[in-house]
Amino acid sequence: MSTQINKIVSSKAKKVTTHVLLEMKEKGEKIAMLTAYDFSMARLIDQAGIDVILVGDSASNVIAGHETTLPITLDQMIYHAASVIRGITSSLVVVDLPFGTYQGNSKEALNSSIRIMKESGAHAVKMEGGSEIMESVQRIFSAGIPVMGHLGLMPQSIYKYGTYIVRAKESEEADKLIEDAIKLEAAGCFAIVLEKIPATLAEKVAKTVRIPVIGIGAGGEVDGQVLVLHDMLGITQEFSPRFLRRYGNLADQIKSGVSAYIEDVKRSDFPNKNEQY
Ligand code: KIV
Repeated sequence: MSTQINKIVSSKAKKVTTHVLLEMKEKGEKIAMLTAYDFSMARLIDQAGIDVILVGDSASNVIAGHETTLPITLDQMIYHAASVIRGITSSLVVVDLPFGTYQGNSKEALNSSIRIMKESGAHAVKMEGGSEIMESVQRIFSAGIPVMGHLGLMPQSIYKYGTYIVRAKESEEADKLIEDAIKLEAAGCFAIVLEKIPATLAEKVAKTVRIPVIGIGAGGEVDGQVLVLHDMLGITQEFSPRFLRRYGNLADQIKSGVSAYIEDVKRSDFPNKNEQY
């Protein structure tokens, strides 16, 4: 047990880079990734030793309250990413390219990525898609910007699917997903997120490509896991898919803390003599 803790601590002593992630896969060391969108949360999860922080476009849902990830803008993603960067010391920070800033135009994809890197100080970008975005991936990678891929359920395409159910259960979609993963690796991606696909397919992808495969709802036989911070800490309550394990119940803690504060204010218990000047 203590050897395992030492290993975890020593692996966090240096900055996590894309190269470190590759080494972790080679050594069979799992990669832990979480989302964050602001300075305070980023600082806490970096201090806790998270390997990778994703400034996800899920900010559109959990921060801005939109139904989908589509409305969030590039300027808003840069604002979130810059806040996260100010909170971290060793985690690798990856930022989602938001919907409409890269699809179908590789020059625009490069310009969007350059803005994220320059204006936020982030370390890498993430994009949803396979063969359709290959030119963009190559162009961004050629400019020296690390790219993380994202296959399986791609929330930016929700209006195409019409549903958030498990993807690639049929062989045609599964075969395309494997081909896409191979293409993303060849185009220079340093890692791939697989969202909500059968565990056996995710395992096959992780064994096929050399780069790390990070799963969310993709089973345990991949190289790492990612969850949305607000979901795993129990801040969001409505969302409870099978793959989500909750590590806290912050919604209840926040509400009971706030209720206690309201009560103290109402009965003139707060502030007391020691809490004033
Ligand atoms: O935006 C996000 O939070 C994501 C994760 C679900 C992987 O893309």
